[in-house]
Amino acid sequence: MRELERNPHLHATPPLPRCAVIGAGRLGAALCAALRLAGLDVNGPLGRDADAREAEVVLLCVPDGEIAAAAGAIAPGRLVGHCSGATGLDVLAPHEAFSLHPLMTVTGVEAAFAGAGAAVAGASPRALAAATALAARLGMRPVEIAEEDRALYHAAASLASNYLITLEAAAERLAGEAGVAREALVPLVRATIENWARLGPERALTGPLARGDEETVARQREAVAEHAGDLLPLFDALTEATRALARPAGSEAMRTLRTVPELRAALSGARRAGRSIALVPTMGALHAGHESLVRRAAAEHDVVVVSLFVNPTQFDEGSDLAAYPRDEARDAELAAGAGADLLFAPDAAAVYPPGFSTSVSVGGLSEPLEGAVRGAGHFAGVATVVLKLLNMVGPTAAYFGQKDAQQALLVRRLVRDLDLPVAVEVCSTVREPDGLAMSSRNARLSAGERARAVALPRALAAAEASVAGGEREAASIFRRARAAMEPHAVEPEYLALVGPDTLHPLERIDGGALFAVAARVGETRLIDNVMLTPPSSNGRS
Ligand code: PAJ
Repeated sequence: MRELERNPHLHATPPLPRCAVIGAGRLGAALCAALRLAGLDVNGPLGRDADAREAEVVLLCVPDGEIAAAAGAIAPGRLVGHCSGATGLDVLAPHEAFSLHPLMTVTGVEAAFAGAGAAVAGASPRALAAATALAARLGMRPVEIAEEDRALYHAAASLASNYLITLEAAAERLAGEAGVAREALVPLVRATIENWARLGPERALTGPLARGDEETVARQREAVAEHAGDLLPLFDALTEATRALARPAGSEAMRTLRTVPELRAALSGARRAGRSIALVPTMGALHAGHESLVRRAAAEHDVVVVSLFVNPTQFDEGSDLAAYPRDEARDAELAAGAGADLLFAPDAAAVYPPGFSTSVSVGGLSEPLEGAVRGAGHFAGVATVVLKLLNMVGPTAAYFGQKDAQQALLVRRLVRDLDLPVAVEVCSTVREPDGLAMSSRNARLSAGERARAVALPRALAAAEASVAGGEREAASIFRRARAAMEPHAVEPEYLALVGPDTLHPLERIDGGALFAVAARVGETRLIDNVMLTPPSSNGRS
């Protein structure tokens, strides 16, 4: 839209044209009366089949669906306009067309057009000037609307006016349930609208959501559910939109919590308000791989908890645990930047109190691949801590990386076997530009080792290429992968081709398969994997 203050046609005062208004509804009657009061020679309101022969400018105030028919009845040679917000000018063809949509609600003949906005459009400069002049005559502020923006503009007008009534009707109903009449709400509504007009939405917003008082919102929601359950979707949608207005994404400081009771208290309001909670378990040393999990969780859920806990029970060597990089301040910054609301960073005693003696293990998935190298205890440690974290947070969904494919599979199985009420989401592996999977261990590589580490993604690429080329035999795929690693002087610790849901070794590949590699580059152990799907055997690929 464009303010028309500098439109030369507005200031040229053309001789007052003779007007006709067609359509005897509320708007037609009100516009006729207002135009007459403004000193124009107006004929109308006329019936819908009038030809308006004696007028130079004809204004159609008929329902949108009847504009074309009413325009068809008008004698040619006139400027013909309509008063619709959403309808384009082409329905008025072949007349020289304009439109004038008063941004004003009309409930009777005495509509107050003066001071209101008016969206105007014209198929020719002369038609636009006529619409602008009519609006100005009525004391309205004309704003030009482009044809392609009409529906958007009209939706804005509906929200601002019609839907506001729907909202007040809902408020009136709830107030009525509590024995409070409409009149008591009216001054509040008036003051609110005045504040919005004067201060803008962010500063005009008051109330529990503006104060971050989720407990109160949760109590309100329970009351709505009890007394007017059909209004709950409306209430929830408005709560969500209001919350976003009060606290635009990323604006609220992330809180760090150390104990389970603290964590539960921080989440209780959100849970009672029916907000969805996502958990991203990590051991810190966050990088772009972790960030991608947090970003996706934030995009899909209302509250994101990132846990930061270097879990001692999943480390086989004490030295590895001691060497694990720790920088909580940096991790907190990265997590907050990616959209985390809460950082749960307990110390070991808060997770494993004295006498802790329970362990879960996922049989069959814990033993092969990483289990074989790191010891059976590794995945029992992972499964137990993940189960604990899920119980502590009670999330709607938990996010894991495909980078640790065996871990992701094991967590899926744990959740299914124990009927945990959580959706497990697995996100694709984030890689460096040369293909190396992001890992906190990459920081331990010397410059030379870092260059050689590309051997792992090269092995995956070779396996992919060989399967794409029609190879099915595991032994041949391994040969190609090993050959791709050789130039980088990296010897695989294992290469594996396994069923993606069972981790059972495959001799040949028929359906989908997981191809996994582990290797030491210097002292640093790296792992990576890729899903292989052979081109289908029926000729399609
Ligand atoms: P950690 O190694 O910190 O990894 C946390 C999550 O980030 C895991 O789900 C992992 O798969 C994912 N991730 C790591 N690198 C990634 C990459 N390059 N792209 C995508 N996702 C990546 O895995 C653990 O911690 C722990 O075992 C834990 C699950 C937290 C239990 O202690």
